[in-house]
Amino acid sequence: MSTGDLCGLRIVVSAGTTYEDMVPVHFLGNRSSGHMGFAMATAAAARGAEVMLIAGPVQLATPEGVMRTDVRSAAQMHAAVFAALPCDIYIGAAAVADYTPAQVSASKSKKSDGPLTLTFVRTRDILAELAVDPRRPRLVVGFAAETDDVEAYARDKLVRKKLDLIAANRVGVPGSGFESEDNALLLIDATGTRALGPAPKTQLAHSLLDEVAAGLKRKFLDADRHG
Ligand code: C5P
Repeated sequence: MSTGDLCGLRIVVSAGTTYEDMVPVHFLGNRSSGHMGFAMATAAAARGAEVMLIAGPVQLATPEGVMRTDVRSAAQMHAAVFAALPCDIYIGAAAVADYTPAQVSASKSKKSDGPLTLTFVRTRDILAELAVDPRRPRLVVGFAAETDDVEAYARDKLVRKKLDLIAANRVGVPGSGFESEDNALLLIDATGTRALGPAPKTQLAHSLLDEVAAGLKRKFLDADRHG
């Protein structure tokens, strides 16, 4: 029997990059290492939650006590997240591709001297769809990687995607972001903005879960108050 402040909660965490295939040997990916999402899954399981980790292509071992589904593309991640419902909390830590090639050719194209033009189409926004789904988890948490105006862009995302909490980090600065062991986050919700870190991602994960647990408690209290 597990113990901990998240005992009895089912948490789904997405982590890492996605690969959008263009031709059999080329794909579109990004630099997300998956460390932040894996750290969240590790910390949540250690605190007693039942954790389902939906991982893009990353080089990381499955944390102890965590269930894991591996996916490759944004479409596969979308399907895996929705197949993992219902859950109490969704933490979207994956850097999901916003665009995918309109067509995947079956064979490797032969290069020519001229330029190459490819058409991309939008992927489905997992986080935004989940937040308005009838099976919406009680808490929907997003991440935002921004290069400037971090707080303003992240708050806009919080409202637009109907999230409960968003963790924003500044990419492109040393000691923070995608490939770093450390991170600094701005946590933004309806009650305000808090800064976390810089700290190792493993430590930040626990601080972020403290905020998640507090957010869930507030929701319970609100629900009680409003019948
Ligand atoms: O809009 P942007 O991609 O910056 O938002 C980042 C957040 O949205 C992350 O939490 C990411 O997991 C989520 N996201 C998603 N599905 C997408 C794109 C982003 O769930 N297709």
